Amino acid sequence: MSNRKILVTSALPYANGPIHIGHMLEYLQTDMWVRFQKQRGHTCHYVCADDTHGTPIMLKADREGITPEQLIAQVAKEHTRDFSDFGVAFDNYHSTHSEENKYFSSLIYTRLRDAGHISSRTITQAYDPVKEMFLPDRFIKGECPKCGAADQYGDGCEVCGANYASSELKNAVSAISGEKPIDKESVHYFFNLADFTEMLSDWTTAGHLQPEVRNKLAEWLDGGLQQWDISRDAPYFGFEIPDAPNKYFYVWLDAPIGYLASFKNLCDKQGLDFEEFWAKDSKTELYHFIGKDIIYFHALFFPAMLQGADFRTPSAIFAHGFLTVNGEKMSKSRGTFITARTYLDHLNPEYLRYYFAAKLGAGVDDLDLNFDDFSQRVNSDLVGKVVNIGSRCSGFIAKRFDNRLAAELAEPELWFEFIAANEMIAEYYENREFAKAMREIMALADKANRYIDEKKPWLIAKEEGREAELQAVCTVGLNLFRVLVAYLKPVLPTLTYSAEVFLNSEVHGWIDELKPLLNHQLNDFIPLMTRVEPDKIAAIVEASKENLEKTAAPVVVKEKQFAPIADTIDITDFGKLDLRIAKIIKAEAVEGADKLLHLTVDIGDETRSIFAGIKSAYSPEQLEGRLTLVVANLAPRKMRFGLSEGMVLAASGDDGIYLLSPDSGAVAGMRVK
Ligand code: 2FM
Ligand code: ZN
Repeated sequence: MSNRKILVTSALPYANGPIHIGHMLEYLQTDMWVRFQKQRGHTCHYVCADDTHGTPIMLKADREGITPEQLIAQVAKEHTRDFSDFGVAFDNYHSTHSEENKYFSSLIYTRLRDAGHISSRTITQAYDPVKEMFLPDRFIKGECPKCGAADQYGDGCEVCGANYASSELKNAVSAISGEKPIDKESVHYFFNLADFTEMLSDWTTAGHLQPEVRNKLAEWLDGGLQQWDISRDAPYFGFEIPDAPNKYFYVWLDAPIGYLASFKNLCDKQGLDFEEFWAKDSKTELYHFIGKDIIYFHALFFPAMLQGADFRTPSAIFAHGFLTVNGEKMSKSRGTFITARTYLDHLNPEYLRYYFAAKLGAGVDDLDLNFDDFSQRVNSDLVGKVVNIGSRCSGFIAKRFDNRLAAELAEPELWFEFIAANEMIAEYYENREFAKAMREIMALADKANRYIDEKKPWLIAKEEGREAELQAVCTVGLNLFRVLVAYLKPVLPTLTYSAEVFLNSEVHGWIDELKPLLNHQLNDFIPLMTRVEPDKIAAIVEASKENLEKTAAPVVVKEKQFAPIADTIDITDFGKLDLRIAKIIKAEAVEGADKLLHLTVDIGDETRSIFAGIKSAYSPEQLEGRLTLVVANLAPRKMRFGLSEGMVLAASGDDGIYLLSPDSGAVAGMRVK
């Protein structure tokens, strides 16, 4: 295995709010991948930073009566603490509001300008005459030009979903001062992205992108590339453009340059060679982990900027999907908008690390955190399978053999089978197929447990004269346990560390180099992980609702220019759904479940029992006799309270749940087509 030199980044989180578990999906995915590369013996640097510039941060600081510098310093502390408590091991965590970033932003801009890729022209924009600032679309409110809904932002209607220009809003006002905006002219600077059309057509089809991302880019390229507005007028929290007083780089210009800046900062601290990783002819590898909503910036603007300014381009962009919780977008009112800190206050971070690993693939599909599934997987895989092997064997070794392992390995073939799996597992990790890697590892854990079940050390222990056999079986068990833990090291660094202390032996490299521990002294067994306690999950949901009450002020979260990739389905996919009109015959509360109602529904040719999370919105009496819509061919799901044989359809938003029903005249059993 030759030594590779790899530089890895995760997207830079905005410094205007806390890290939440949706963010954590990305940082944990990246961290596991980086830890894997390091365990393989490669040189791998993982850098990140806070994304500190832009209007929302400036205004937030304003609202809090502090300077933006004070705000970002405070947030940086919170972010780094959250990351560190989740075991995310950045080699460097920096800030886009740094000397290095100012230097590289100016350098890249001037190189692009000197090569003729920047132009300027006057544009007209909404301006707040009281606050004396230009207003980004998100800061203009009014009535939707399509449906008339009040209080909609300038970048789209949340009621009817319409997209429009902010100038089309009726009765528009500034969301900051409440004043009517006026039109005002100003000179803006643009990056001529179209100059890079050919380069980007080549680059986006040369193996740097996942297939589904590449297809999306082909659509964007076919549609023609537009000039990109990279300047903003004062007042703006950011870097002033070198040759344009009172004009600032748009936050998205200097954000990805933050990757270079953070790495330069690391180079200065550790004496690394910056050029080796960023020069045009670099032979090193460069990977950016990002969410699918910011592909445009990373797969078009960023490579074009780097190319135009004479830097190397990324080896690959690894995009992932969004996190949903219990099947839905994270919602503040449902208590599923969970901050990293709230999670950490109640649950072991390694549960979430494992759960994400157990569900992550290499694609851009969304990942659902389902609390029942979460508890079940952690309890059954980690506690029930892996940790169990250690606890089953360690007691006998401690009590009967003074913590000493046998001198020989009784089952060399089983050991070799465990070691031989390393190539397959490494390939899965390498390709970010974490779920597949976890499946392989758990299959091995099943094997180790079967071995112990067959040998029955608890019976051997009761018989005289079988001491050697007992020690041999437990020695095999604990050695297999050690291999499993070594495979899980990128995912579960803390559990691994405790296991290493217990085993009195550290795992340094990859598993192909592992040798069995024989005639070896152990330390006392340390309890490695306990089962997920259901009341902790309930406490998280509750605390997340409380967070909402504390932060009721409206906060503009993101400054985004491009819509995410929408997952489309074709008519064949739709045809797979058996949607039926159903009559609710009976509705009753479920003892011990805060949110569930137990429904008995007539779907025409049969009666079904369905558990639905609609108790907050409906009392059972309101439901009996009414018609609704169900997915009749959803695989039955075993829930704590019984089997759910379908799903009722409801619309939900932050303000409630609304059951769907057909127009009058429809009867139970009708199919929706
Ligand atoms: O979408 C976001 O949260 C941005 N702050 C990500 C920036 S990534 C990189 F370009 F800096
Ligand atoms: Zn509307």
